[in-house]
Parts: sequence; structure tokens; C-alpha cells
Amino acid sequence: MRNFKKRFEERYDELKWLYMELYDNDAMLVELVNRMKEFYKDRPDDLKERDIIREKNPRWYIKEPLIGYKTYVDKFAGDLKGVRGKLPYIKKSNINVLHIMPFLKTGKNSDGGYAVADYRSVEPALGTMIDFEDLAEACHNKGINICIDFVMNHTSNEHEWAKKALTGDGEYMSRYFFFDNAELPHNYNRTMHNIFPTTDPGNFTYIENLHHYVLTTFHSYQWDLNYKNPRVFNEMVYNFLFLINKGVDIVSLDSMSYIWKDFGTSCRNRPRVHTIIRILRMITEIVCPGVLLLGEVMQDPDAAVQYFGEVGKPECHMLYNCSLMPMVWNAVATRDISLLKQSLDIFYSIPKQDVYLNFIRNHDDIKWRLDFDYLQRKGLEKPSHIKYLNDFFMGDAGYSHSKGELYNENEESQDAKFCGRTASMTGLERAKLYKSKELESEAIRQILMLYAFLIMQSGVPVVYYGDELGLLNDYSYKKSKNESEKNDPRNIQRGSFDWEGVKKLTDKYSTEARIFYWLGQLESFKKTEPVMGQEAYCWTLDTWEDGVLCTVRSYEGTKVMSLFNFTEHEKTAWIDERDGMYQDILSKKKREARNIELPPYGFYILKRIVE
Ligand code: GLC
Repeated sequence: MRNFKKRFEERYDELKWLYMELYDNDAMLVELVNRMKEFYKDRPDDLKERDIIREKNPRWYIKEPLIGYKTYVDKFAGDLKGVRGKLPYIKKSNINVLHIMPFLKTGKNSDGGYAVADYRSVEPALGTMIDFEDLAEACHNKGINICIDFVMNHTSNEHEWAKKALTGDGEYMSRYFFFDNAELPHNYNRTMHNIFPTTDPGNFTYIENLHHYVLTTFHSYQWDLNYKNPRVFNEMVYNFLFLINKGVDIVSLDSMSYIWKDFGTSCRNRPRVHTIIRILRMITEIVCPGVLLLGEVMQDPDAAVQYFGEVGKPECHMLYNCSLMPMVWNAVATRDISLLKQSLDIFYSIPKQDVYLNFIRNHDDIKWRLDFDYLQRKGLEKPSHIKYLNDFFMGDAGYSHSKGELYNENEESQDAKFCGRTASMTGLERAKLYKSKELESEAIRQILMLYAFLIMQSGVPVVYYGDELGLLNDYSYKKSKNESEKNDPRNIQRGSFDWEGVKKLTDKYSTEARIFYWLGQLESFKKTEPVMGQEAYCWTLDTWEDGVLCTVRSYEGTKVMSLFNFTEHEKTAWIDERDGMYQDILSKKKREARNIELPPYGFYILKRIVE
């Protein structure tokens, strides 16, 4: 208990202060502390050792180059045991952070696992908690960190609490938000808030036998938890610690910006969310300091960045960088990198200890959250530009070969989000349909250019499962017997992994090998070059060409310049760096960094040769 005691004493004053500010409830605080002690006692010795090593090197996740991979257990390998069997493939793919999406028991409707019915047991089809522990241990033995989601904003309507609430038990009803018809908080900002399809009316679901509405921000079967109730907070912390003790390294706090509701506001990013995350950070530092908190805040970068916390009062260790994905695809559709460039300029000036996880695609839709003030100055109006982006990626405008589907389409405002996999969005699906080798090569080049861009950024690049092989959209969800699955186009990017495709990696001319091999080269560069680390200085250079982006990294005398052609045309980057010769890290050829010609969707990564 010595370690616990020391860590606890260092933090207790602040912990108590914040807890009392939220709940003003001594008894619940005492219970929380007692349970923390128990979870510490139960924590396996090997994890405690891991904690101590990391405590001595608290910036381990900044110093060690991390590369992530995000996947579903069932889609990737059937079940948890299956995933364990596939770790050699993960290792071969240069991955050292494996993020498996929710695998806990869900109800009939699962939202891809994000509707948890029991935080203490695994969905039977995916295995058991022992299987998860074995997987985590096997990952650790191979130098892989394991990341899971903690779905904290809501439970499934089939969670024990929800079931008890349904009987009218006030103890359990008070763990959610119930309203009778007359008292529905009408000023609750529905339009801002209604980002996921919900049943009528808006974000509230009518519970017939109780004659009440329950708050359901996402789907009707995901009931929002009431964190104003200390019982909810404490129990969720216990669930969190229970899962962490199974061997988790990184916890992705799902939809965390929603957890505190102040009706009459947008109910997002409320100050109390920060209090809760700060308490969670301290609890983690006391019980399991080797574990990292990863914030999932799918909102404006200015609001998101606050979740790193303040100096001396940190909240999340890492955050998803949600603004990059729409900006990257916007650059593709407009053949114009200026918006991306200006936001990189801002991004490159933020404190270097802020670690972001970068991705170009994930399991969710692409919401066109762009800087429309900036775009307007270029003459692009929000509604028509969103329509253009969606039309482009549907393959209906702008000479595009992309394929995908719209999500949450609002015919009146013509607003919609977009779903599709990287490979299909770059034209690989159509290339295969038309049997066009030329289109296929173009798509492969585009996939590699986009991933090269991702990998060349500071932070953790996250590969969405299958992208490393050029996995296409999967339309089979339309035949699902489960209505909610069938009506959710996000399933287009949630198909089964292609193990047949993996077999093709031995044929170096296959689509799969052409992507996998070069991606691997880029990842190795990221992992081995200190200039790719968080400490490097980064900036952009003007190329005097709308579709060509140039980014530069510099660290301890090493300088790397990357050029990316976001267009289907040959382009020249009109740069003129006169500080020596450069080497192309992929072809190994020497060259000057002047007037560089790039093939369609081409890219170069040039490292300055130090004489
Ligand atoms: C997260 C998940 C998304 C899910 C939502 C609600 O944003 O990425 O798939 O629908 O949370 O849990």
C-alpha cells in the first residue's frame, strides 16, 4: 500500500475539494476512497510494476513513437481469442497501440458496442473477461499497448439500472434523466444537439409504461447517465477501475464532453465535465498511474484542447484530433490545401507535450466541421460547399471516383454527413468495378499520399483496420435483420477484415502489397527517426501551387521536408531550399529541394543530407 498512500496523499486535497464541489457528500467520498484502495489491492502485480516503470518515466508515451490501429473484435478476428491469434499480423504492421472497440455485453441494439448493458462482462459471442486479460497480457509481451473505450455518457436500455428504472424504481430512475411530458426542457438545444438519429421527439425517448420521457442524446436505446447523482459517478468509476485492472493501457473516454447536462445550454463541454475528468485523472494517477486517458471530443478544436487541462491540473493525456479528417478530405475534393495549411500553422504552434491521435478515417461518419468563415472568404458558402463535398464523395460531382453513402441527411437544409472507407473514397472501388489499372494505381497513390501526410504529423497516427490493405466499403449491412443496424450507413465502413487479402501480401504486385509495403516503410521511418518525435519544430512552406502541401520538421540538426500533391494532375512545388542536398527516404535518391515535380497524388519525403 506504500505506493498508493504516497500517491493518494499528494492528491487528496484537490480530489476532496473537487468531489465536494460536485456532490457535497462525505459518505460517498469515503466509499469512493475505500473502493479505490480495494481496486489497488486487486491490481495484478505485473500491472503494478508497469505503473512504477511508467511513473518514473511519465512522458513515456511522448518519447516512445506510437502507431495505432483501431478495429472491432468480431470484424477483425471473430472474438477476443481470435484477436490474440492475430497479434503477429499487428506486430508486422508496425502497430504498438491496438484499440479494440467496445466488446462488453450490449443489448439487442448495440451501436457497434457503444450501448453497454454490463460493464463487467464481455459480449458472449466475443469471449470472456479472461480472454480479454489474456489478450492484454499477450499484447504486453509483444510490446503492444491495449486501448479500449469506456462508454461513459450512457448505458444500454438493457442495462440493469435501466431495467430497474423501467419498473418505476426512483433510485434507478434518478441515475438517468426522466421528464414528464409537461416538463420536457424545451429550451434544450435540440438542433445543435441532434447529431445522431434518435426516435421522436428529438433527443427524448418516450417510455410508455412510465408515461415519461428519458434523455437519449444518441440513439433511443442509449440512455444518458445522470452524473449529478454521485451514485452514478462512483459506480462508473468502479466499472472503470475494474476494466483497467484487466490490463488496459489506454482508455478512450467515449463521448465524454456530453456527460454533464445543464439544461438550457448545448449540454456539451460544461465546466463540470472538466471537474469530472480531472477527478478521473487523479484517481488514475493514484490507483494505476501507468494508464493513459484519451479524450474523444468530436467538437471544435478550441473546445477540445481544453481537455488537456491546465498546468498542474492535467485532464486527458491524449486527445483525438477530430478536425484533421474533414480538412484532409476537403483538400482532396477542392484540390486546394489552403484551409489545411492554415490550420496546420496554428496546430504547429501548440505546446509540444499535447499529444493528438490523428486519423483520416474511423468507424464514424465524416461531419463537415470546417472553418466556414475562412472558406467564405474564398467565396464558398457553407450549405453549397457541404453539398459539393457530399456530391463529390458520392461520385456525382467534381470528376470524382469516390463511392460512399450519406448519413443523417436533412433534405430541407441539404446537410448531411458522409460515410465511406478510405479506399472507396479514393476510387479503388470504382477502379475494380471498371477493371481500370490506371484508376487503381491512382487510388493506391492517393491512399499512400494521405497516410504519408498523416504519419508525417506529430502525434500518434491511427490506421483504421483494413486501410493498410485497401479494404473497400461493405454494403452487407443493408441485409441485416436488425433494424437499427440496417438503417445505419456507418456500417458501410465496418465490414469484415480481409484475411484473404493478407495472403496476397506475398505477391508484390497485388493492390494489398502495394499499400501495405509502402505504409510499412513510412511507419518504420516514423518509429526510428527522432525528427518524427513530439519535440520537433514543424512548419509549412508555400509551394505556390493550390493543391500541393509542404510541411517541414526539424530536430537537432535533422530536417525533413514532405510534399503532398492532393490533385490528380502533375504539379510542381515551387520551393527553393538552399541548405544542402536532400535524400528521398523511399527511393533513396539524392536531389535538390527545388522546383519539385510531383506525379498525380504523389508525395515525397526528403531528408536533408548532413555532410
Ligand atoms: C462515439 C462512437 C460512436 C457512437 C457514439 C455514442 O462517438 O464513436 O460510434 O455512436 O460514441 O456512443
